[in-house]
Amino acid sequence: MSSSRPTRPAIRYGGDYNPEQWPRETWREDIELMKQARINLVSVGIFSWVLLEPREGEYEFGWLDEIMGLLADAGIDVDLGTPTAAPPAWFWKKYPDSHPVTREGVRLGGGSRGMVSPSSPEYRRAATAITEQLARRYAQHPALAMWHVHNEYGAPVSESYDGHSVAAFQQWLRQRYGTLDELNAAWGTLFWGQCYGEWSQIDAPRLAATVSNQAQRLDFRRFTSDALLACYIAERDVIRRYTPDVPVTTNFMATNCLAADYWRWAREVDVVSNDHYLVAERADNHILLAMDADLTRSLAGGAPWVLMEHSTGAVNWQPRNIAKRAGELARNSMSHLARGADAIMFFQFRASRFGAEKFHSAMLPHAGTGTRIWREVCELGSTLETLADVAGSRVHARVGMLWDTESFWAQDLDWHPSIELDHRERIEAYYRALWELGVTVDFAHPSADLSGYDLVIAPSLYLVTPESAANLEGYVAGGGRLLVSYFSGIVDGTDAVYPGAAPGALREVLGVEIHEFLPLHEGELVTLDDGSTGAVWADDLHPTTARVLASYTSGPAAGAPAITENAHGSGTAWYVSTRLDGEDLAQLVAAVLSRSGIDADAAHPGLEIVERRSADTVYRFLINHTNADIEVSAGESPVTVPAGQVRVVRDPVHPEGTQHEWSTRHAPDSAPHVKEDV
Ligand code: GLA
Repeated sequence: MSSSRPTRPAIRYGGDYNPEQWPRETWREDIELMKQARINLVSVGIFSWVLLEPREGEYEFGWLDEIMGLLADAGIDVDLGTPTAAPPAWFWKKYPDSHPVTREGVRLGGGSRGMVSPSSPEYRRAATAITEQLARRYAQHPALAMWHVHNEYGAPVSESYDGHSVAAFQQWLRQRYGTLDELNAAWGTLFWGQCYGEWSQIDAPRLAATVSNQAQRLDFRRFTSDALLACYIAERDVIRRYTPDVPVTTNFMATNCLAADYWRWAREVDVVSNDHYLVAERADNHILLAMDADLTRSLAGGAPWVLMEHSTGAVNWQPRNIAKRAGELARNSMSHLARGADAIMFFQFRASRFGAEKFHSAMLPHAGTGTRIWREVCELGSTLETLADVAGSRVHARVGMLWDTESFWAQDLDWHPSIELDHRERIEAYYRALWELGVTVDFAHPSADLSGYDLVIAPSLYLVTPESAANLEGYVAGGGRLLVSYFSGIVDGTDAVYPGAAPGALREVLGVEIHEFLPLHEGELVTLDDGSTGAVWADDLHPTTARVLASYTSGPAAGAPAITENAHGSGTAWYVSTRLDGEDLAQLVAAVLSRSGIDADAAHPGLEIVERRSADTVYRFLINHTNADIEVSAGESPVTVPAGQVRVVRDPVHPEGTQHEWSTRHAPDSAPHVKEDV
């Protein structure tokens, strides 16, 4: 992140700040309180388009000049928002064709926020115009440290079925396929006689009598991601003309937004930033947080990233908005920091009195400074100051998990062999097993260079392109290890089944052929001869070169192989044809880790251990998610991590192979539970 002044703290701390919702008297108090909390970065102006441009082409910057000046005087940097996620009422009145239309044909109204039709030329023009005004006016401002383009592209609406989008989709298809023959072949339009004779006959895949062409839907998702990205790039390019040295970002929602193919988006931002909110009611929400942070770091290519938003307490948009318990905001923040964030930001600084988010927590709650939340916010600010040297250090993972947004898109389409096939469920299950074994994970696109990983896991990857298939084959042949779960490698990039037996894309590397899918009844369990139990799925599996590690002893595949291992080139690939959970999955993952030469440490459930490394220091983050103290020993220096708290231990980097081994144990006589409150 750029810094306009010489002495900036290295870990950024702060949040969204919406001074326009408050009278000017409050601004000075806000800034005093920000200083008290050690806040050094705030995101300003994200939803203020109508204040900056009250009538088309008429600009009023007085209030923003004033607050930017006050922040600069206080030494607080600004992450300046472009306000294009909430067009003004004048825009909607004048350009009604810019309203997005849902798949069902409902034209969405204004009076809220969220995406416009991303293909509206009027929107593109108006958005780049206000962006240019901001960039020109604040280019040299001493408080400007970063640009925050738009807000959460793709949420809450991404696909739009309006006229502008249909025309743009046709254009996008021409570029992708060149000829209608190519398009008809790729979409398999001979099926149900859907062949197109002119580009103008092609519509967005709006709601139809029954299942729409699946390749068309897949392409419409690709097109939508590209259309949203084009909106971002248009604003970014305007900004870069004025401030080439100030980083530009837009806030992702890593695991929680499938509207954008973030692998492509990440190349276009100067720094990756991410918003994450706990699924409050889930007992494992701290593990899902870690997964989200690991994906964010991976999107950033391992570089430090910005946690742009999370919450100090409850959100306001879940069925039951459970408040965070004492210490939880610090644990959450430190988990993000441990997994590579160099900035910890919240939504928002001061709780709103009115509007849709008046029941959302904030750094400064409605109840003010005499609250636990405010105390914890101030404590966290002080803690982060003591961790300034962590900035820039990196996380090194030996396990890579495959994440391909396109595979999510394809797997979410209609009419698959079981409604219980759930890509995300398997990713979470394998991730949870690794988290509980103390193993840090990177995510990777299946076409990426995987050679740095000792183990790669594909927890159900339905769509695998021929390029990705060749990449995975080459990785294993070159000595890599690959663990694949069921319903993977089934279709190519057009959602067409590979010729021959499944899993077409991975048949050779796994050394198996599937003669028939054997989905299970709801609630049906099958047993394996290694003592484990499967659910949801089984295959009629025939090894070609693989050897059998476990076979079914009950269910539709009784007597047939369930888990296989294939020596391929210098590497190994495993295939698991059923849904394993809990201890069974943990044992399988532990065995594969051990075969990959990776230590697993399940010494204490609920203790999160993550390392960041700089050239000379290892930072060990020890985050105790339990209600019991845990003692950790590393060589000569035992550390007690009190219940619910976090410790960061610095250790000099030793020559290769001589680093301390760390082990954990419960403090004597304690009976730990994970997260007693949930
Ligand atoms: C999102 C948005 C914010 C706010 C928060 C509330 O992340 O970006 O503007 O609405 O949700 O949780």
